[in-house]
Amino acid sequence: MSDSNKVRATDAGDGIRLITLDNPPVNALGYALCAELVPLVEAAAKDATVNTVVFTGANGMFSGGADVNDFSTPPTAETKTVRDVIEAMERSNKTFVAAIDGNALGGGFELALACDYRVATSKSRVGLPEIKLGLLPGAGGTQRLPRLIGANDALQMMLKGEMVKAPDALAKKILDEVVESDAVAAAEKYAGKPKRRISAMKTELGVANLGLFATPFVVAQAHMMVPLEENGGFAAHKLIDAVQAAIELPFARGWAREMRLFMELVVSPQSAALRHVFFAERELSKVPGLPKTEPLEIKKAAVIGAGTMGTGIAIVFAEAGIPVTVIETKDEAVEKSREMIFGMFKYQVDKGRLSQEDAWKRANSISFETDFSELGDVDIVVEAVFESMPVKKEVFAKLDAATKPEAILASNTSTLDIDEIAAATKRPGKVLGLHFFAPANIMKLLEIVRGKETSPQTLTTGIALGKKLRKVAVVSGNAFGFIGNRMLFEYEAQAVQLAEEGVSPARIDKVMKAKFGFAMGPFAVADLSGLDVYNFISQSQHGTPLGRIPIIAKLVEQGRLGQKSGAGFFKYDKAVGKGREAIPDPEVEQLIAQLAKEAGIPQNPNVTDEEIIARCTRALADSGAELVRTGVALRPGDIDIVWIYGYGFPPHHGGPMHYAKEVALRQAQGDNTPKTSHTTETKELTHA
Ligand code: 3HC
Repeated sequence: MSDSNKVRATDAGDGIRLITLDNPPVNALGYALCAELVPLVEAAAKDATVNTVVFTGANGMFSGGADVNDFSTPPTAETKTVRDVIEAMERSNKTFVAAIDGNALGGGFELALACDYRVATSKSRVGLPEIKLGLLPGAGGTQRLPRLIGANDALQMMLKGEMVKAPDALAKKILDEVVESDAVAAAEKYAGKPKRRISAMKTELGVANLGLFATPFVVAQAHMMVPLEENGGFAAHKLIDAVQAAIELPFARGWAREMRLFMELVVSPQSAALRHVFFAERELSKVPGLPKTEPLEIKKAAVIGAGTMGTGIAIVFAEAGIPVTVIETKDEAVEKSREMIFGMFKYQVDKGRLSQEDAWKRANSISFETDFSELGDVDIVVEAVFESMPVKKEVFAKLDAATKPEAILASNTSTLDIDEIAAATKRPGKVLGLHFFAPANIMKLLEIVRGKETSPQTLTTGIALGKKLRKVAVVSGNAFGFIGNRMLFEYEAQAVQLAEEGVSPARIDKVMKAKFGFAMGPFAVADLSGLDVYNFISQSQHGTPLGRIPIIAKLVEQGRLGQKSGAGFFKYDKAVGKGREAIPDPEVEQLIAQLAKEAGIPQNPNVTDEEIIARCTRALADSGAELVRTGVALRPGDIDIVWIYGYGFPPHHGGPMHYAKEVALRQAQGDNTPKTSHTTETKELTHA
């Protein structure tokens, strides 16, 4: 039998050849592994003593798919990929069975789909998440899954990049059998059964009663459902094209079409950006120089303050199964908080995400108390009171006295100095920032702020807790605004400067949202956060205004605090978009023009959409570069993650640092136009 580095082949008796993928950590089907696997499949095909090949995976995993690192190296004529493995299987006359224990994703699942039978343990998941990397399944997934479960269901699954749990996959007939344990033993029972290649099947649409129009309907509906090509939908439209081929063409032609479309995506800037995001996210927990220590076990938590933020944080703990005590002295606040908690858990039940029983248990794991003396047994406290240094210092001094010495004390401050807060305690090594983003139970981002005294164990606990709370946790140094808000101020300042030069806030927002792809424009963000907050912060920063004119101070003076007061940079009307839709306000534009005139700011009436994007994104990248230079951010990739998960930066541009690198590269290659996307779309948006 053949033994090699990444794959093992053994004879299991009764004509069964067991091939085990063993390429830690996720048995990625990289070029090197496939180069070993192709000859093993071919050898089994030639071996008359073999009638069935069973594939399985070591390391608690079937396979996480093709090796994403390989996509940066173009394959040569000699390179072997999952497609070569699958072609060798198609040429073979043996029966193939996949024994899945753990995840079978991407190319791993495509390998399983090329098998005649699929068996999995109940904890396993299968899926084609390539779309999240700006790709489409490129080893037959777009051709086989529609043949197996119908084009409509296959499209939904692939467009969402959904990972389907084994029992659900069984119900969808993706799997033939689900067992509690020992998938290999169950798979071996399929030995000698007849071949049943999906490639020989015909694609059903999976929709009823549409007659001749069924195919165009399914395809057109899918194209309408996904974002525009230039707004992050580049891969989705190609994926739909590939599925259309599965419906309309014989397998061999669809297989070839899929390959061409896949290759177009691999070299696309959008996929490069999304692959960068994938790896950046996995780097986050690696803190250079952090000594290895065991994190403190968090069995019980507390939150100080039952405002919107405190309540959201309490929900996050409850959802992670950590009981939490909320300290709040005002009855009215407790009442509101309870309403929010029960409303949120009821919503989860209504959506079918939680059983009534689990929701009740979780909601009741949040208790309310008025006195710090109740905190003697908690392992961590997150303070979420008013953003004021004296208030926070008082709270931390009280917490220091009330909690056990090993408890960690965290602040949810978004701007204040963690070291100064820590100095109010006798345990500065146990203090750190845990900056949640509103609404805390929805937003994925968590900034973990490391003070100068924060101990390795406290930081390690913060990182482990972030994972347990299912947050994307980014470590930041202790500097004004940390990573996200520090950059937000520079970004907003640039937007204000553009407005001073005569560009309307409505146009700037429209360009940054509709053309560049941000979730919201900068002025809508300012209105949502509250202009009083910006004003307060700029006063605490020695009165430095955002931009060159005191526009925010003036708006606040007029009672225009943003969305919450019905007016800020924009107007809000309860009758329009539930009071959340930004309505351009000529009065504000006039005020900006007047202040700009008084300040002698030259006007720039011919500014292009591309310049607006270039200036706003450059402001972000410059301030990000400064954060990396000064050690506040560990890596440019961390900044990208903060902006994608916390501020709605379009993931297909890879984050502000990745985007700046891309633009610089394009300029170095002689393309001086700072394009917003990689399509032929160049026409200006209609200016608001
Ligand atoms: N290629 C290369 N490296 C991979 C990988 C892949 N497909 N999947 C995971 N890894 C690496 C991660 O980078 C990480 O490396 P590190 O330890 O050096 O940081 C390590 O494996 C562990 O990954 P996670 O931290 O994500 O581990 P989890 O246990 O939390 O999750 C997982 C495991 C669910 C498999 C998750 O890693 C995942 O979703 N992976 C990507 C799956 C995917 O997108 N597959 C499609 C690939 S493209 C493809 O197959 C194309 C084909 O159609 C031709």
